[in-house]
Amino acid sequence: MIIQWLYCVTWLFLFAPSNAVKEYLFKKCEQNGFCHRNRHFASEISKSFENYEPKYQLDRSTFVIDEQNGLFNGIMQKQLNDGSFKDLVFEISIVEDYNLRFKLDERDRKSEITKDIKVNPERYNEASKWAFNSELTQKSFSYQILDDEITMIYGENNEYESLIKMHPFRITVFYNNVKQIVLNDRDFLNLEHYRENDEFDQINVSLEESKFNSFVDTFKDSKSDTLPLGPESVGLDFTFVNYTHVYGIPEHSDSFSLKDTTNSDPYRLFNVDIFEYEVQSKLSMYGSIPLMIAVKEDVAASVFWINSADTYIDIKKNLMANDFKDTPFIWKDDSTTSVKTHWMSENGIIDVILSVKPTPMEISKAYSDITGSTTLPNLFSIGYHQCRWNYNNLEDLLEVHSNFDKHEIPYDTIWLDIEYTDEKKFFTWDKSLFPNPDKMMSILDETRRQLVVIVDPHIKSDYHISSSIIDKQLGIQNINSKSIEKTYHGHCWPGDSIWIDSLNSKSQAFWNKQFINGSDLLGYSTNGHLWNDMNEPSIFNGPETSAPKDLVHYNDWEHRSIHNLYGLSFHELTYNSLLNRNPSKRPFILTRSFFAGSQRTAAMWTGDNMSTWEHLKQTVPMILTMNAVGFPFAGTDVGGFFGNPTSDLLVRWYQTGIWYPFFRAHAHIDSRRREPWIAGGEYTDYMRDAIKLRYKLLPLFYTQFWKSSITGEPVMKSLLWENPSDLNGYDIDNEFFMNGLFIRPVVEENAEFVDIYFPCDEETYYNFFNLNKKIESCQTVNVKVALDTIPVYVKSGNIITTKDRYRRSAQLMKYDPYTLYVVIGSTGLAKGKLYADDGETFGHKDGDYLEVDFIADNSKRVIEGVVNHNNLSGFVKSLKDNNVTINKVIVVGSGKNIPQKADIKQGNEEWESEIIYTPEDNYFVIRNPKVLITSDWSIMY
Ligand SMILES: *[C@@H]1O[C@H](CO)[C@@H](O)[C@H](O)[C@H]1NC(C)=O
Ligand SMILES: *[C@@H]1O[C@H](CO)[C@@H](O)[C@H](O)[C@H]1NC(C)=O
Ligand SMILES: *[C@@H]1O[C@H](CO)[C@@H](O)[C@H](O)[C@H]1NC(C)=O
Ligand SMILES: *[C@@H]1O[C@H](CO)[C@@H](O)[C@H](O)[C@H]1NC(C)=O
Ligand SMILES: *[C@@H]1O[C@H](CO)[C@@H](O)[C@H](O)[C@H]1NC(C)=O
Repeated sequence: MIIQWLYCVTWLFLFAPSNAVKEYLFKKCEQNGFCHRNRHFASEISKSFENYEPKYQLDRSTFVIDEQNGLFNGIMQKQLNDGSFKDLVFEISIVEDYNLRFKLDERDRKSEITKDIKVNPERYNEASKWAFNSELTQKSFSYQILDDEITMIYGENNEYESLIKMHPFRITVFYNNVKQIVLNDRDFLNLEHYRENDEFDQINVSLEESKFNSFVDTFKDSKSDTLPLGPESVGLDFTFVNYTHVYGIPEHSDSFSLKDTTNSDPYRLFNVDIFEYEVQSKLSMYGSIPLMIAVKEDVAASVFWINSADTYIDIKKNLMANDFKDTPFIWKDDSTTSVKTHWMSENGIIDVILSVKPTPMEISKAYSDITGSTTLPNLFSIGYHQCRWNYNNLEDLLEVHSNFDKHEIPYDTIWLDIEYTDEKKFFTWDKSLFPNPDKMMSILDETRRQLVVIVDPHIKSDYHISSSIIDKQLGIQNINSKSIEKTYHGHCWPGDSIWIDSLNSKSQAFWNKQFINGSDLLGYSTNGHLWNDMNEPSIFNGPETSAPKDLVHYNDWEHRSIHNLYGLSFHELTYNSLLNRNPSKRPFILTRSFFAGSQRTAAMWTGDNMSTWEHLKQTVPMILTMNAVGFPFAGTDVGGFFGNPTSDLLVRWYQTGIWYPFFRAHAHIDSRRREPWIAGGEYTDYMRDAIKLRYKLLPLFYTQFWKSSITGEPVMKSLLWENPSDLNGYDIDNEFFMNGLFIRPVVEENAEFVDIYFPCDEETYYNFFNLNKKIESCQTVNVKVALDTIPVYVKSGNIITTKDRYRRSAQLMKYDPYTLYVVIGSTGLAKGKLYADDGETFGHKDGDYLEVDFIADNSKRVIEGVVNHNNLSGFVKSLKDNNVTINKVIVVGSGKNIPQKADIKQGNEEWESEIIYTPEDNYFVIRNPKVLITSDWSIMY
């Protein structure tokens, strides 16, 4: 019997699809101590309905309320099962643009600890230091205190009211008198205070608590976890009242709209190297942003859970009110439609920010006020990137490089994966393959192309870089300080490796040295940039493919506490080193692992996906999610990482990939070559067409990135971010907007027709490639899609800027003329914006940029360019000196009464320009109006 059973198991393993994710490597909630305990806690409380006696309350006698400086703090008491109380300290403040922040920590935790503990005994409270852009400003509030509750009123027009109930503890946030978010609605607040175990590894717990894995970890690969501080998790629930949809909390390979998790594992945030991942999964992936956004037609709300430890989130969608309108409810809360969420983290303090705003766009803004907005990218980095593991040597690289020109395909960046190094020792080159990197980079520079090389946080254990790290004690360390060699060793690409502790402030100087002008890696080049991979960190022989949680970082913080921000700390380290190398150039860094705040210094991609149609389809929701949570500079491997895509799939992936804010093709070492010219014939033509379209639209992308760098708004924008009042858009995640364009990429195999939903906004959608084809809003249309079709529409009311000439790279286009598409909207107006700068320095921060508003009013038959900003020097002056003009204006949807000529005015000069059209057309063309882009103009037609 046993033998048969074993046989059966073996059989399953052997015949499981070879591309299935290694799910057994990763903990499920029930196998993960803190998640198991918190889910148990929640379910015990839910079962007891209203009989449950809540254990947390505020102690009124301890309140300190400073309404002027926007701070309210005091003691929260946790009742233990012997009737005694444990003191916690809470803090409530109103931060930035009227968001509510709640913090909770243990009081005097250190004094409870009698054992000799080798790690920092405090709860980790520095996640916000890494996530926030800077210290938050606090806003004043007014308040009223009653017997059992406090009302705080705040906002420009006192539009916010928060009700803080003392016992049981709750915070309810109202916006314009409507209830939006309830914190601790279901009494799932749980802060496992410090307790020491007895000789049987036991503690005294209350009924709703579980002891599961409090002092041991029974999961097969983490049994060696010493759990020096025992159980110390935090849990809290939030209800979004009268909401049906929530978004965010990447990274998961799942739909854009988050799902109910009642009958599944919760969504997990724990950065891991989940190679060959599966679609539609709640497993954690390479990065984490603990921000969830709820949206409805007239308001949006968010929870930002600032915790960098292993985290799970349960979602319960309560749509009961709709389904059972006439039934009385046993539990009063269930009578309202809501999304109930339960957040659980392994340790750390509770630190959470609740925001409520009129629109999701304003939530994006509020979040970027806190964590910073996306960096304005170096222009080249929004062009096309060509990568593969690996370009083998100098000849190979230069051949790929010149093939682009031969096939007239623009590209900006070629990449080198790990094989360029000498035996995978970072900061070295394999000189037999790449004898003269400086020379190679200067060849690329002739056509303003760039090189990106990979540097990971694992450092091979036996060469001068690792020796220095060990000597200076800059490595991540083992917990056991008695060992002679404290530095932790694990297994990664180079074999035995150590990991740089990028949380240690002393690591920066060491890292800087490896990048200074003239150093081994980048030499004296000016076009070298960095790729930070494997920074979850990925450790092949570590638990869940990552670092043991009881490793120790700077200031004795356990890895357990900082796990999800290690990747951020590493790419920031690299960013600062590149800035140190050349303070006047915008660094480009691609990171695989990320945390809230990563958008300030890096781009991300979704890691190692597969060359399948299913994966292609999954890319759009994933990138939409990144854009929704303030990290728009995101992409996925065009073509898929593992496997060999068919030519059809590859073409469709390019046609989709040109819309990813970060657009890079990449492939596994075992995949066949698939640069765009390999497929040949029409396939190559279609890929070239797609890439050229991306370059044509660079002004539009760059302008959108600039907007995003100020407001935090998405670059690739979901339907509901564009138009929250159209509820039909809430579940759609295969369509999106990009700065006035509307796109529905074809991601289905053999598709000849696709259904496209045109949002309800009273505008008209014109086919970008054939402006005579138009579709009115608010309908689903079945559209024919040949393999060369990319469904792209211009939404009326917009003015779109393009550059139409083929150039080899983005920088070579900088003095090319612009084309304007003026698409008259339903109100007779259209508008658009253009932002331009040198695309590589920080000159824009000193004002060296051009910002132009375009406005058209069809009732007055006028189009105007209004220069909002022009510093008349530096790069913008060079635009003028080079006579950069608008040389074509296409006016769409202006009606039938078209004159022969347009009257043009700029400065003191006036002239005429020819108009071309045919009566059947939806549009006419003003031929070469020759207006300079750098000063105001008007065109009458
Ligand atoms: C656990 O707590 C209960 C209730 O206070 C108490 O009666 C019991 O003795 C405690 N058990 C231990 C092992 O401390
Ligand atoms: C829920 O929200 C909708 C849309 O904002 C509103 O029409 C409705 O009145 C709300 N219902 C309740 C019970 O607040
Ligand atoms: C790097 O060094 C070279 C050679 O000394 C020099 O020409 C160049 O200006 C330096 N670059 C920077 C950014 O300092
Ligand atoms: C795999 O590939 C695509 C593009 O690289 C990406 O969007 C997708 O999400 C990746 N993974 C999964 C599971 O789909
Ligand atoms: C720009 O236009 C001016 C005036 O027509 C002309 O003198 C100048 O040579 C032009 N510059 C370039 C770079 O074409």
